[in-house]
Amino acid sequence: MRFTPATALEQLDAEALVAFVHPGASLQPALAAWDAARGGTLAAVLTAGDLAGEASALLPFWLPGGPVRRVVVASLGKAGGLDLEGFRAAAGEAARCVQELGHRSAGVLLPDPAALGWAAGEAPSWDALAEAIAEGAGLATFRYSRGQKAAQDPAPGLETVVPLAPDEHAALVDAAFGRAGKLVACIDVARTWIVRPGNDLTPARWADETRSEAERLGLSVEILDEHALQQRGFAAITAIARGSERPPRLMVVHHRGGAPDEAPIAIVGKGVTFDSGGIGIKPSQGMERMKYDMAGGAAALAIVFAAAQLGLPLNVTAVVPAVENMPSAHALVPNEIVTTYGGLTIEINDTDAEGRVILADAIAFAARDLGARAIVDMATLTGAIGIALGREYAGVMGTDPGLVAALCKASERSGEKLWELPLGPAHHNRFDEALRSDLADMLNYPGRDASAITAAAFLKPFAAGKPWAHFDIAGVGWSNAARGHRIKGPTAAPVRTVLAWLRAGAPFGEG
Ligand code: BES
Ligand code: MN
Ligand code: ZN
Repeated sequence: MRFTPATALEQLDAEALVAFVHPGASLQPALAAWDAARGGTLAAVLTAGDLAGEASALLPFWLPGGPVRRVVVASLGKAGGLDLEGFRAAAGEAARCVQELGHRSAGVLLPDPAALGWAAGEAPSWDALAEAIAEGAGLATFRYSRGQKAAQDPAPGLETVVPLAPDEHAALVDAAFGRAGKLVACIDVARTWIVRPGNDLTPARWADETRSEAERLGLSVEILDEHALQQRGFAAITAIARGSERPPRLMVVHHRGGAPDEAPIAIVGKGVTFDSGGIGIKPSQGMERMKYDMAGGAAALAIVFAAAQLGLPLNVTAVVPAVENMPSAHALVPNEIVTTYGGLTIEINDTDAEGRVILADAIAFAARDLGARAIVDMATLTGAIGIALGREYAGVMGTDPGLVAALCKASERSGEKLWELPLGPAHHNRFDEALRSDLADMLNYPGRDASAITAAAFLKPFAAGKPWAHFDIAGVGWSNAARGHRIKGPTAAPVRTVLAWLRAGAPFGEG
């Protein structure tokens, strides 16, 4: 999707127009005048009550006489109930509707934020509103097709979006659309990776594509192949990869926007390109979804790409272990003991709890080799998080209350919902006790009780005392239906939340 510079409604040359209204409220003056000059259709249908009251309801209709042939009005719900996430959702619904109706270009009329009924506090600025609208429209119109399906469906989609705003706000609006466009482009890279099946997006191919993308953006990248991983002691990563014909990789991508001597923020993501469960194979029902078991890794890479594209003045490094978890005659057998990169030993009692094992090496690498000043990991780690929180809230846990609180604050800005689960006190901790092994320092799977929490408790020691937080995105990583700005498919959570945190200066600890 391309955003053109902002213009006035009178100058709009696009196939469609999107506008936002509180049903029942009077039309914004520019829209009322534009509509009156075209016969007053919009005022007539709104007065007739055709637009449903609930937020994100749509009213699409033809407007004969061109050049704008179609108008889509999106409801903002009752005045007094509005927030920026509501705007992202309404913009998403409207943009998807325009795209599905076959239009390639649309103008989006920005309302005056001061004239709307916000739920809490002051009205947002023009650029915050513009960014939310552009984000919503960009997120919702992502389409993915490859191979045969792509050949059958050559429809170009909504290619051009024209923001319509008063002259005095045009520069801010353009900059906001520019930022949103860059962020969505990075999210699209992640979503395109997540939808690809395991035979296509193998660890090696993913690493090659990551290298090209990083180099295209001017970022430095290191890829460790199987040999390098073995040589350097990443035994947890190579152990999980052993059952697969497809060799593992460790991807490390640096954005150096901060002072040269400043330790980086590490963003670690689980990159299991397909999780069959290994020797402890999963039931076949629904197993195909496990191609998305690298959604955390794709998100981590997208975060660093976006941090670079937005020119954030921070050093941020993505660390993504990529493996396929398969059963074979060579595969890891239950009860094997693995010595991780950090030196701690793990008794692998369950080969399907593989994510935490590869993350152990990656987090230890971030703490030791990168000397990260804070570590944030993201992973489709447990089915249990979906049982506990469902498909709307990601789970977050961590060792640094300031970091967890700052991430929760950032999630209020991004609209990606987040809920903290208790990791327990450092001194006497039942979750840590549950991980005790008779054969090694830790068990990789202590059982079903609180298993989203024990998975996080397993990761904790690998951060070696650094401020650390963990997102469990297994419940929210994939959406079964298109709704608001969400497509049917990968959500790329928690990219926008972590970006919001980085844009606030990546606060953690007391400060
Ligand atoms: N990738 C899965 C987590 C998962 C499960 C994501 C279901 C989405 C839906 C992870 O590797 C896994 O298999 N976890 C198991 C752990 C256990 C059975 C060893 C789980 O949570 O069920
Ligand atoms: Mn698994
Ligand atoms: Zn997994």
